[in-house]
Amino acid sequence: MSEKAIKIGLVGFGTVGSGVAKILLEDGDYIKARTGLKLELARVVDIDTKKERPVKLPAGILTSDLNSLLNDKDIQIGIELVGGTKIAKEIQLKMLAAGKDVVTANKALLAEHGNELYTAAHKADKCIAFEASCAGGIPIISAIRTGLAANRIKAIYGILNGTCNYILSNMSKKDESFRTALKQAQDKGYAEADPALDINGHDSAHKLAILASISFGCEILPSDIFVEGIENIDIVDIRYGKEMGYTLKLLAIGQKTDDGKLFLRVHPSFISSDNALARVDGPFNAISIFGHAVGQTMFYGRGAGMMPTASAVVADIIEIAMGNSKKLFKHLTLEPRNKISSSIGKIDELASRFYIKLKVSDKPGVFAQICTVLANHEISLSGVLQHEEHNTANVVPAIVITHLTQQKKITAALADFAKLEIVKSKPVCIRIVDIPEDSD
Ligand code: HSE
Repeated sequence: MSEKAIKIGLVGFGTVGSGVAKILLEDGDYIKARTGLKLELARVVDIDTKKERPVKLPAGILTSDLNSLLNDKDIQIGIELVGGTKIAKEIQLKMLAAGKDVVTANKALLAEHGNELYTAAHKADKCIAFEASCAGGIPIISAIRTGLAANRIKAIYGILNGTCNYILSNMSKKDESFRTALKQAQDKGYAEADPALDINGHDSAHKLAILASISFGCEILPSDIFVEGIENIDIVDIRYGKEMGYTLKLLAIGQKTDDGKLFLRVHPSFISSDNALARVDGPFNAISIFGHAVGQTMFYGRGAGMMPTASAVVADIIEIAMGNSKKLFKHLTLEPRNKISSSIGKIDELASRFYIKLKVSDKPGVFAQICTVLANHEISLSGVLQHEEHNTANVVPAIVITHLTQQKKITAALADFAKLEIVKSKPVCIRIVDIPEDSD
């Protein structure tokens, strides 16, 4: 007797959708041998049914009619890969109402409206699986929800945007310009349709909102996260940082303090070049999670691109088909906003070390003035760097590294620097993040 296939309907036949179709069509036997599941791609919905794609679908399954998927009672799992938030949300709600479990890679939607969608899924007795929403092919959602389930998570440090990591590593390793590196990341299919979301840090913030919500068990919105992108990073600062033992990364950080405060931020960060995250290059993502029982863990893999993201989507299909997702999803309850908003810490309260570059006049007493400003704000220096430069303008870059200090003190010092006659352009200020490392 031939066993019944699990029927799947896919909405969004773009880059990731094509990858999902490719795996389901080409690797079905392999998946069946490993899981016992016969998966069948029964319907693919896209507004463009004519465009050439890198995968050939069986005749008759591609359509522009969403209802043909929704009304097909045999389709158990609906995959939403259209992106955006408005139409995608409607599609997911319709899929749930039509009795389908949902798989999505839509980080923006889940970051903004996750709790509403999870509640709708709970009411419909269905589940939403979203492994592909964060860090591409790395099974980080599954790791947090199951592998690390015994842990109270204390901190997350993530390189969550492949495009930014590709740009920063090419600037650092190949001395490429920001624009050249961005163009390559776009050509390779890592960047969002609107790459501004990558480089302004908001894509990382969406992913952090999802990871922090499931790690800390409360509804975290992108607006809770302090965000600064990499669009103003100058290759010169990457070079100075390197000379002083630091590598520049766009880090997404979620920390829970002992008194229950949550600090959530995405910003360019100098980290020690000896730290494992500093060695994560190109489009790769990595996430270091600290749990009270496990200590430090580290997850690494491709964070963007067709097949890595498709790998995560298919993993979710398998988990749903095996019945695991639904059991776990029942317990995905997040503390509501009104209970947690007072626990969200402000960046001003956070202590950090800082890299500050000032372009200053090359004349006597300049460092004395810099030190006076820092001393006035009780900021202690931990390092200085100035190279000889010979230019007609007599302007030199002076770099100072601070000890731990509060953001608000640095903000005040930067305002004072701007008032000095010897300071010739807007100071550059980049946070230095000292990631704890477990050791024996
Ligand atoms: N644009 C994203 C990135 C794709 O570069 O990481 C994966 O979300």
